[in-house]
Amino acid sequence: MNSKASLLGALAAALLLGCGGGDGASTPAHFTQALVIPPVLAPASSGGVDHYELTAAASSKAFVPGTTTPTYAYNGLAYLGPTIRLTRGQAAQVTIHNQLPPDPPAMGSMPGMMAGETSVHLHGLEVSDTADITPMVGMGLAPGSSASGSVFTPDQPSATLWYHPHPHMDTGRQVYMGLAGMMILDDPADAALNLPSTYGVNDLPLVVQDRRFKADGRFDYLTRPEDMEGQMGDHILVNGVESPFEAVSATRVRLRLLNGSNRRSYLFAFSDRRTFQQIATDGGLLPSPAPVTEVMVPAGSRSEIVVDFSGDPGKTVYLVSRKFTEAPGFGGDGDEAGAILREGDPFPIMQFRIGAFVASSPLPAHLATLPALDPQNATVTRQFDLERGADDTINGKLFDMNRVDEAVTAGACEIWSVTNYAPDISHPWHVHGIQFRVLDRSSGPLAPNDQGWKDTVRINPGETVRMLMHFDKQHGLYMFHCHILEHSDMGMMGLYRVSP
Ligand code: C2O
Ligand code: CU
Ligand code: CU
Repeated sequence: MNSKASLLGALAAALLLGCGGGDGASTPAHFTQALVIPPVLAPASSGGVDHYELTAAASSKAFVPGTTTPTYAYNGLAYLGPTIRLTRGQAAQVTIHNQLPPDPPAMGSMPGMMAGETSVHLHGLEVSDTADITPMVGMGLAPGSSASGSVFTPDQPSATLWYHPHPHMDTGRQVYMGLAGMMILDDPADAALNLPSTYGVNDLPLVVQDRRFKADGRFDYLTRPEDMEGQMGDHILVNGVESPFEAVSATRVRLRLLNGSNRRSYLFAFSDRRTFQQIATDGGLLPSPAPVTEVMVPAGSRSEIVVDFSGDPGKTVYLVSRKFTEAPGFGGDGDEAGAILREGDPFPIMQFRIGAFVASSPLPAHLATLPALDPQNATVTRQFDLERGADDTINGKLFDMNRVDEAVTAGACEIWSVTNYAPDISHPWHVHGIQFRVLDRSSGPLAPNDQGWKDTVRINPGETVRMLMHFDKQHGLYMFHCHILEHSDMGMMGLYRVSP
């Protein structure tokens, strides 16, 4: 395994020799390409189980005019994968066919790992570890082979979830190449809420990612020293289309915002600073719609919002990312001196071209009933120190797939307290197999985005975030990690096992 220092050294040398680093591609045409809505993957049903088949393979797509980018994608698409739609209470199973080429991992490889290995992680689902196709956790599936997860029956609130590969030390590259997709879980009981729910019309899946391209169109992945702190790019894609436009009616529109970027956080807002309603966090609906003017979504996290365009026929409004400061005292991030678009820089994301008025139901005042936060019932408190002393560590340790870091008793209620010791970078903390609740942040009051079901939370520099975890549906071996994919690939991950 390459150490971070030697990898940084190699990258720096490559830069000095002038053989690395992207020089930026031609200036993109903004808001001239229509948004593409990922197709919904139709399951094959047999024996009461919905079977979803994914095939990962190489593909290509013209992102930047005049160039072609080699990509990876699922099911014959040019980039990303179809949307998986699950229904609460309906048994399902996911199968993956690995037809990826044996491209070498960009970070160097794990002992025993084959080039082109992949896996599929069902991010946000509360299911047993065997439903995920991550054999041996972190190990993957060799090119040319197939694997099925176990049958699972979702029993959690309706939510915007997602899936992506998880081969240790190659996740960042595979996601960057295009392997990711949205997964929507529907609870039929929520139909009565009359939320905008016509997929691709007034209920839009938006996978937001930043990418950097080489002059010849190839993705420019991990070629600069600062990329090891988390890969960033200057081209903002939505569902794989750079700076797209979408024609919508003057009505209420629901946006399922998925931050599928390797590192970048987005402070989502609208160009006219309008108020919109946040209706859901990572794992389900909020108790009631929260009127906000911006929502911070770190890498790996999701937020559902409803924007009311009813009064705006004929107007053009932009979804943007507003300026924010990663850490007080740091102008952006000291590690990103060479980045074209730094963390916290503002930019437009996509354009809404608003057409004629279409009547829509107002949002209900009550969306969901969440259990009371009951930290007094927690029997165990665990402390996780991020980057205390050493880069990319959790409690001073790098990932070791042969070491189970935390042993959890099934059914337990626990408090997990996570402290970020890094002065200059936030880490999006993610736990597999569970939706938890944020109890508090040492830095101040909770935003609405912290007040629902969560599986990924931004831990700011110097901050401690405490969360309440109820392990009532988990069984087996799971991971927790930073969702900056280069951090987790470098070992900012751990394992927990839930046993009776
Ligand atoms: Cu999106 Cu290990 O997670
Ligand atoms: Cu996950
Ligand atoms: Cu991190």
